[in-house]
Amino acid sequence: MANEDKFKKVISHAKEYGYVFQSSEIYDGLSAVYDYAQNGAELKKNIRDYWWKAMVQMHDNIVGIDAAIFMHPTTWKASGHIDAFNDPLIDNKDSKKRYRADVLVEDYCAKIEAKINKEVKKAEKRFGDAFNKEEFVSTNGRVLGYQEKIDTILKRLGQSLEKEDLADVKALIEELEIADPMTGSRNWTDVKQFNLMFGTKLGASADTAMDLYLRPETAQGIFVNFLNVQKTGRMKIPFGIAQTGKAFRNEIVARQFIFRMREFEQMEMQFFIKPGTQKEWFDYWKDTRLKWHKSLGLGDENYRFHDHEKLAHYADAATDIEFNFPFGFKELEGIHSRTDFDLKQHEEYSGKKLQYFDHEDNESYTPYVLETSIGLDRMFLAVFSNSLQDETLEDGSERTVLKLPAVLAPTKAAILPLVRKDEALTTMAKTIVDDLKWDFNVVYDEKDAVGRRYRRQDAAGTPFCITVDGESIENNTVTIRHRDTMEQKRVRIEALRDIIKKEVDVKEWLMLMK
Ligand code: GAP
Repeated sequence: MANEDKFKKVISHAKEYGYVFQSSEIYDGLSAVYDYAQNGAELKKNIRDYWWKAMVQMHDNIVGIDAAIFMHPTTWKASGHIDAFNDPLIDNKDSKKRYRADVLVEDYCAKIEAKINKEVKKAEKRFGDAFNKEEFVSTNGRVLGYQEKIDTILKRLGQSLEKEDLADVKALIEELEIADPMTGSRNWTDVKQFNLMFGTKLGASADTAMDLYLRPETAQGIFVNFLNVQKTGRMKIPFGIAQTGKAFRNEIVARQFIFRMREFEQMEMQFFIKPGTQKEWFDYWKDTRLKWHKSLGLGDENYRFHDHEKLAHYADAATDIEFNFPFGFKELEGIHSRTDFDLKQHEEYSGKKLQYFDHEDNESYTPYVLETSIGLDRMFLAVFSNSLQDETLEDGSERTVLKLPAVLAPTKAAILPLVRKDEALTTMAKTIVDDLKWDFNVVYDEKDAVGRRYRRQDAAGTPFCITVDGESIENNTVTIRHRDTMEQKRVRIEALRDIIKKEVDVKEWLMLMK
């Protein structure tokens, strides 16, 4: 299936199976705002828990907080968001459409990269087993030419943005003859900066109301609480503070479903370290976070690092973990070495000392910070899109199956009486539901023929179907069918809890990080 079709299928499947709905759909929706439905809310919660367990519960030196969305407005002056949290925008004079100038250039480079991939595929076909991809891309003249072009363009883009030389960003768009993707027009305005924070007001009267912002990242709630947590938790450096929560950005080019939204959720962790050790911790967190992703079994080849050329105003090193979404490799998580920028800024703007006294070295210092920051909605999209598969079975029939990692699946098992009209079967199935629901999310499903129910649960992502039949009444056994292999086994009812637990237990999955 072409990538575009696959992505359309992801969006429609998410709606059809109760994962994600367009916000306010009855009023024709609100652009780039989405609601998580009954299954989506469970999947999202399970991803959040999987992250929290790995980051907070499994690290003796990381604690979690839940800071408010509203913060004192000076926070955003100190953090640099009022002055520097901008996107470079460009309008097309003919279509009146607005674009992010850097994204137009990056998309242009992605097209060149697609040409490289085409060359690789051709060569792979030609050389068969003898094909060595690494050697090919480092020696083939055409590929090297394409790569050099990408590198030159991105370097210039990075430098122009760094220097705030927006005239050069426009010149680059013109030189590359980049056209409006919707209409093909090349009639562009100048590039302008646009601040991404949403403003609001606190207070009843117009004269006294205070201008506030909806937080554009959760990180600042951690920085302003650094000393409170360090003191009350008697934390010793190195230590981390984690939190998950909503963030808001007035994204102009919000698109690609839940990939880029205006209201989204982040899972962030700030790791406070001794100055000078940032390189070592940067490598540690790169490695640890990639292992976390890989533990979910979405395919190691679907991840890559992308080191930043253009660094944010607070960072001395940064990388993205990119994931192979249906529309190509894109940022899933950021790992940033934020130096002491934030704490120093908050010290300056608040007038409060935000330092750490190191008893071992007998000195005070402002800690450096290593940040890991992942979008929960993006992680949801990565998991969901990767799991959605169409399969042709041995008998030639087709099935759509959502092969979610069992640890994340919203419903762990569906309990099905073979025949709806047989009261002994339905009663026994309901008793099994009542027993298992203490430990797992399970559902009871009696409608339609059992084959159709299996397909429905496959498409909803349920790892197990447990069927109660005539034999169950005789000897207290049921069949348990596995979603991915479709294999069925007859097992004793008392064994069900352990069988399910083994496959959905967070420990079993997180152990794969080692
Ligand atoms: N505190 C650092 C920070 O916020 P970021 O790279 O701007 O860094 C971190 O954002 C992560 O948040 C991204 O890797 C992405 O997963 C997620 N994210 C950012 N903007 C988003 C948006 N508009 N919609 C959905 N997720 C977003």
